[in-house]
Amino acid sequence: MSVTSRAPGTRVDQFFTGAEARFDRWRSLLRGARAWETAANLNRAEKQGLQADVSTSLAELRQWEDFFAYPGPKLLATLNDRVSSHDAAGAARLAQTISAALLTRSYQSDSSEWQPDAQSSLEFAEMVPGQSDGTGTYRPYFEVLVVSPARPAAWPQLSEEFRKLRRPEDKFVYESVFVGNFEDGFLGAVLNGSIEAAIIYEGIPFASSHSSPVLREFLGSHAASLGINDNSAQYGLALARTLKLLRPELDIYLLCDTEAEKLAGDTGTTAIRRIFYQVEEPLELHLSILDGIAERYSTPYFDNLQRYAQRPIGTFHALPVARGKSIFKSNWIRDMGKFYGLNLFLAESSATTGGLDSLLEPTGNIKLAQEKAARAFGADHVFFVTNGTSTSNKIVEQALLAPGDIMLVDRNCHKSHHYGAVLAGALPLYLEAYPLTQYSMYGAVPLRTIKKALLDLKAEGKLDRARLLVLTNCTFDGHIYNAERVMEECLAIKPDLIFLWDEAWFGFARWSPFYRRRTAMGAAAILEHKFNDPAYRRAHEEQMKKLGPNPSEATLLQTRLLADPEKVRLRVYQTNSTHKSMSSLRQGSMILVKDPDYHTVEEQFHEAVFTHASTSPNLQIIASLDVARRQMELEGYELVNRAIQLALDLRREVNTHPLVSKYFHILGADQMIPTEFRESGFVDSLAPGMDWNKAAKSLREDEFALDVTRLTLVCGSAGFDGTQFKNLLAADYDIQLNKTSRNSVLLQTNINNTRSDIAQLIKVLVQISQTIEKSLSDGGKEAQHAFASRVKSLMHDVPDLPNFSSFFESFRQDASSATPEGDVRAAFYGAYHEQQCEHLKLSSPEIDKRLKDGPDLVSANFVIPYPPGFPIMVPGQVINAETIEFMRKLDVKEIHGYTAALGLKLLSPAFLQSAGPARGGAKEAGKNVKRKAAHAG
Ligand SMILES: Cc1ncc(COP(=O)(O)O)c(C=O)c1O
Repeated sequence: MSVTSRAPGTRVDQFFTGAEARFDRWRSLLRGARAWETAANLNRAEKQGLQADVSTSLAELRQWEDFFAYPGPKLLATLNDRVSSHDAAGAARLAQTISAALLTRSYQSDSSEWQPDAQSSLEFAEMVPGQSDGTGTYRPYFEVLVVSPARPAAWPQLSEEFRKLRRPEDKFVYESVFVGNFEDGFLGAVLNGSIEAAIIYEGIPFASSHSSPVLREFLGSHAASLGINDNSAQYGLALARTLKLLRPELDIYLLCDTEAEKLAGDTGTTAIRRIFYQVEEPLELHLSILDGIAERYSTPYFDNLQRYAQRPIGTFHALPVARGKSIFKSNWIRDMGKFYGLNLFLAESSATTGGLDSLLEPTGNIKLAQEKAARAFGADHVFFVTNGTSTSNKIVEQALLAPGDIMLVDRNCHKSHHYGAVLAGALPLYLEAYPLTQYSMYGAVPLRTIKKALLDLKAEGKLDRARLLVLTNCTFDGHIYNAERVMEECLAIKPDLIFLWDEAWFGFARWSPFYRRRTAMGAAAILEHKFNDPAYRRAHEEQMKKLGPNPSEATLLQTRLLADPEKVRLRVYQTNSTHKSMSSLRQGSMILVKDPDYHTVEEQFHEAVFTHASTSPNLQIIASLDVARRQMELEGYELVNRAIQLALDLRREVNTHPLVSKYFHILGADQMIPTEFRESGFVDSLAPGMDWNKAAKSLREDEFALDVTRLTLVCGSAGFDGTQFKNLLAADYDIQLNKTSRNSVLLQTNINNTRSDIAQLIKVLVQISQTIEKSLSDGGKEAQHAFASRVKSLMHDVPDLPNFSSFFESFRQDASSATPEGDVRAAFYGAYHEQQCEHLKLSSPEIDKRLKDGPDLVSANFVIPYPPGFPIMVPGQVINAETIEFMRKLDVKEIHGYTAALGLKLLSPAFLQSAGPARGGAKEAGKNVKRKAAHAG
């Protein structure tokens, strides 16, 4: 099949080097070809040396090019011919064409890129994708992977057969990429992000001739689960299943030469979109391929909104900007129209007629759009939300929690959850994450802490009231939970516990085969499969026998618990800020539901939507949610891969740059996650000897993993605190970021970033490092001393992070209870009456006196400093010495819920005393406080 020989030592399974590395290889080949072309003055041996270099580069490149349609076998053969026939100028010219076409993707729309030279167009004109249908309409391009046992010599002819099926009315255009075995099928789907569909023939062999030792190791350790131990006749089916696990969005077609009808009835073929009996109906296959793409491409709401905008519509509803007439004709605000363009206003309406549907009660294209999103994200239901995940969280919490229910929640979670508890009247039981004191941030909540909280509730007879566990996955700083393990072990203790995974930052992860299993929906799919597996059932029974009837708490904490598949109700909710990691307009958010008991909460779920959603949702946000889903289903895999790749490049560059790394450092997994939570032995993605199989193992096994796209850049070692550095980047270098800590800033890469962004950031870090070097050398000993002490203060004199102390006794269900949940709502409303509150200045001696002698200082409200951005006080919380110390050391200006001039807002001792210690249940406690509060008011 190869037109050039392959470089035997080159591995093709370096998945993290990605598409960008492919471009680099082409650029390097081009450089070599140019050097050879311009080597007129060199002697023969030197020229031969340059020619040999080009030949080697090309042979190396061939390893990867087998998995891409462009430049394809013919152009590669031409290039190879030119190299071997000493045509340096011709080789350089063609290398230039190919590498530029790859970089700009012009080959997807420009037929001339498929021709070795402009003048020899005829032969190649027939094989180009052909973007236009003659009317100039753009036709998106994609590639189809064909895994065929046919002789490689026959592939060009077979490829040609596909091209002949093209029709002018096709909405999309594709090229085929032929490979010949299971392993190459796998590699093709991994390496080539333009692959949107795969045609797999029965009877393919297993092994590749490409060098892919890491892939082999991976496949070896997953052979049983992927079904590749079967006989060779089944490799096609096994590949279909494997590709579906890798990239669930791909459409897979199986071409069999035996009993197609039997296969179609096999429950093991659910991964396959359609089964054909060999290519008896090539046009049907072609149409099926296009139909599959059209299904993902269609955006019911956005499509209809575009149609709506083009219709002449008279508006007599309350939205003057709709149709834009008052804007474009205005003497004073027509610049607004010019800036945003006509379509924005044509696509505005407050009507739900005209096929626009209603977000609050969708029955038409919003419903369809949500159903498509559910399929794409692997959920049962999806709800679009136009007020951000702040609202999505409150909707889920109101829907699932009644007053008095216990909600186990990470204390460092987003404030919407705390407010969610206030609104629902639920009792938050705060869970502590492990601290990263040196960087003034928290990690995530260890599973042991969660299990212990559940077991304590059980011991207190309150487990039935523990209804919801809320965790942030991943955290702002990138700590990813092992969602599968958390749910499995929690369900072993409480089989009907509901999970809300706040994946505000992690929505994109669905499109990474590495991260998917760590998302709420990915983990739920794995667990669903496990709970239906008879082997799991047996393992659970054995574990029960081993544990005996009354296992101790210590034993349960130490044991990797298996849930009882007979009893579990796997009820999983996920919220994501689509606008934070996908192409949705700001505030676009989704709620994903995978809950077999959803019907039992459906009514209250709708009530919660009615409570929180605006009755005037923004149509453009809804449309962008629809479009964001389309994009991720069609190019999410490639885009997310690139974001990961860029993040790895940035990490490597900063941490190894001889100058930059003197002052700056990006924290690796080894610094963000304590060793005990990296059970697989994983150190960091940049550690020596790292490969993707080890990363995959870590993501499978470890309690926590780090999302590499969230990069904590330590700047304290360069003498900057986080806020200072953030402001410097914004003011002097036009670089924006949002989160900071005392000595770090958080950078992130997403699907929008390019290599130029990374290059720009590195350049800026080099400049800043040079400025530091210069000022240290110009300023002499004094400056160096001042710098060292500033660095020491930022990096070592860091305040301890205060843990949650406790709720004041009157907000506890029972002050003697061993579990710490509290009635945050009662405290919150207690503060509604000014006379029940007092203020104490942070520096006042009264605070120290009260800390020592009482009465307790009890917070009247949420106090949220930015950074770190989580409430260090919640209403009803007893303020202890650590919290005061932390507040006093805080050097940030933005502290929500705290006005320095007034001091800390506290519930007054008189009020607290009148409220008295709680007795007889949280609801009672709440009523007690409120009754007395009303009385006092
Ligand atoms: C973990 C988490 N959840 C929820 C939100 C709120 O999301 P939104 O900004 O979409 O309202 C944020 C915002 O930063 C967040 O960090």
